[in-house]
Amino acid sequence: MSSWTGTEIIEDIEARYLERTGKSREFHERAEQYLPGGETRESISYKPYTTFMDHGQGCRVWDVDGNEYVDFLGNFTSLVHGHCDADVMEAVRAQTEKGCILGSTSALQAEHAKILCDRTPSVDMVRYGNSGTEATQWAIRAARAVTGKDMLLKFEGCYHGTHDDAKVSVVPDLDPGELPEPQLEGLGIPKSTLQDVVVAPFNDLDAAEKVLKMHEGKIAAVLAEPFLASLGVIAPKPGYLKGLRDLADKYDTLLIFDEVQSFRMSTGGYQKHENVMPDLTALGKLIGGGYPVGAFGGRRELMDRFDYDPTRPDSINHSGTFNGNEITMVAGIASMNKFDEEAVRHINSLGERLREGCNAAIRSQGLKMQVIGVGSLSNIIYTDQEVSNAHAFAMAYIGAMELQKWLHLELMNRGLYTAKRGEFIISTPMSEQEIDRCVDEFTGTLEFMRPYISAAAPHLLVD
Ligand SMILES: Cc1ncc(COP(=O)(O)O)c(C=O)c1O
Repeated sequence: MSSWTGTEIIEDIEARYLERTGKSREFHERAEQYLPGGETRESISYKPYTTFMDHGQGCRVWDVDGNEYVDFLGNFTSLVHGHCDADVMEAVRAQTEKGCILGSTSALQAEHAKILCDRTPSVDMVRYGNSGTEATQWAIRAARAVTGKDMLLKFEGCYHGTHDDAKVSVVPDLDPGELPEPQLEGLGIPKSTLQDVVVAPFNDLDAAEKVLKMHEGKIAAVLAEPFLASLGVIAPKPGYLKGLRDLADKYDTLLIFDEVQSFRMSTGGYQKHENVMPDLTALGKLIGGGYPVGAFGGRRELMDRFDYDPTRPDSINHSGTFNGNEITMVAGIASMNKFDEEAVRHINSLGERLREGCNAAIRSQGLKMQVIGVGSLSNIIYTDQEVSNAHAFAMAYIGAMELQKWLHLELMNRGLYTAKRGEFIISTPMSEQEIDRCVDEFTGTLEFMRPYISAAAPHLLVD
């Protein structure tokens, strides 16, 4: 164990980061002149400045200084087959020569849609957008249109993108009463959003029922990620999703699953894995083969409303310049065709291996932490207690002070590109070799940082 103090350790982490990433710093300073903060996506921005990546191949990326990383970010799950997958590239190359978007309906859309519908048990028909944000926004709009009700019940910690309804209570109420207070996530979101969006803690059916009862007859949809992907990768308790299905039926409201991330849990999403069918599903990320995409779908009689006819007042007008564009469609078809049962088993078992290895490292360092997750997604948690909702995750995260920030930077120094929030995302080109390397570097990082942890967050040391 190092004899350094906590301060010396974080100074060393930062010094090595600065030394390795001189060109990134130059790029950042240039970018700052034209982009506030030098970036355009908060989720991948961190201090002292973000590493600028230059290129990727398979499960590896290289930054502008030539440093190599194993890519455990995978663009937050959209790159399920890693970078420059040969089949995806060939499909895109061939399509590029025919035109990237022809401004007409294309047979490729029906081909892509058939794959989604064949795979996803509750989905008979889909429509496309260009992001997961659009997918959830339109699924909500569909639910409101069909039910004639305006209210939405969502869950603390569930991330559904950046539209107004989605930006409620992603970060949980840190001091909840019997039920959490819905809160607006940042500036610029109309306060009136809170008239229609109500929240409950994840994994708590009693709380969900209380909220549904309180607003009985007014709620268009219950919107949930099947697991909290963006906030701790927290699994649903056994029976929780089925319980939500039953509650939605009991209170005559629609159930929407946001499977933008959880779709990778099986060939047909978490709904197929758990055998719980929502009324509507939002999709994104992997279904675009690495290109911008969103889709929403559900039962035929709900989706039929999108067969727009101005003379039919119950039909819904949905449009978007790049919806179902040819490049995304061919990339998505190529990507999903090779995302078969074997691919799912492969990444999910690597996820298990990663969690086992990292938890053994945590135990060997005598720390009250854990790495939890679902299938191919895992997250560091700063407590050894059970974490089943966003509140528990956030309290542990806050209690660990700046540990996650420095741990993330040290993993970068050691050639692991992970999400700054402590998430590890596995892609199909990875093998046990990359997982074992990750576990080794994670172990080395904890060992190196232990004196810092004992100074900054002594409650994380086993007594
Ligand atoms: C579960 C979930 N829903 C929706 C979104 C929004 O997708 P996008 O960033 O493509 O708008 C995300 C993005 O991370 C997500 O994880």
